[in-house]
Amino acid sequence: MTGHTTNPARPHEGSDATNRPAVRAYLAVSLDGFVADDAGGVSFLDNYDAEELGATRFFESIDALVMGRKSFDQVLSFGDWPYEDRPTWVVTSRPLENPPPHAIATPPDPQRIINEATKRGLNSIWLVGGPATIALFDAADRIDTWELTVVPERVGAGIPLFTNNRRATLTLENATPHPSGVVQLDYRAQPATET
Ligand SMILES: NC(=O)c1ccc[n+]([C@@H]2O[C@H](COP(=O)([O-])OP(=O)(O)OC[C@H]3O[C@@H](n4cnc5c(N)ncnc54)[C@H](OP(=O)(O)O)[C@@H]3O)[C@@H](O)[C@H]2O)c1
Repeated sequence: MTGHTTNPARPHEGSDATNRPAVRAYLAVSLDGFVADDAGGVSFLDNYDAEELGATRFFESIDALVMGRKSFDQVLSFGDWPYEDRPTWVVTSRPLENPPPHAIATPPDPQRIINEATKRGLNSIWLVGGPATIALFDAADRIDTWELTVVPERVGAGIPLFTNNRRATLTLENATPHPSGVVQLDYRAQPATET
């Protein structure tokens, strides 16, 4: 859950030129395609400095978040809520216990989340993950950009980023190598048809 933003032309609206917010799948992924190890942990990121990779700059460019319940519970387990006052939709079938003030429990309905964000006038949503939530938005064609922080680590086994067998061709918008061997790869997905 680190990141980097280098492209000043980064979208701040949906790719179909409506007022809906851009949905940006922004994750750290190992070279062999995992977002977490077998136990759901992200210790493969420990040797990398999120600040150096531009995480703060990325965070400043988004005004809302969407995450799955597992990722939400994991963030809470790390300590203080790090996402300040950004509205955060948590995809879950269960009520949130003692949620941070701006967390909103929501059913697995991407269009409903996007509609709510649009009504609030939001421009740029960080789709945090995990892969189950990514797959939900992907299946609905509601991911505008894939902004992947590729870390030069092989995890071997764990939770893969891509969990469906979809084929797609993406457009590279930015590739930034870092001295640590991390490469930031930002891709635009095919435009989705507005529904
Ligand atoms: N490397 C990174 O940048 C990064 C970023 C994010 C997450 N992660 C890792 O990802 C792992 C968690 O990912 P995950 O995919 O297992 O879980 P997740 O997407 O974080 O959460 C899954 C939960 O969200 C709800 N949900 C999501 N999609 C749904 C759907 N299509 N239908 C119904 N409910 C849905 C369900 O909650 P209910 O059970 O409450 O119904 C489900 O159990 C963690 O280990 C975390 O460390 C890594």
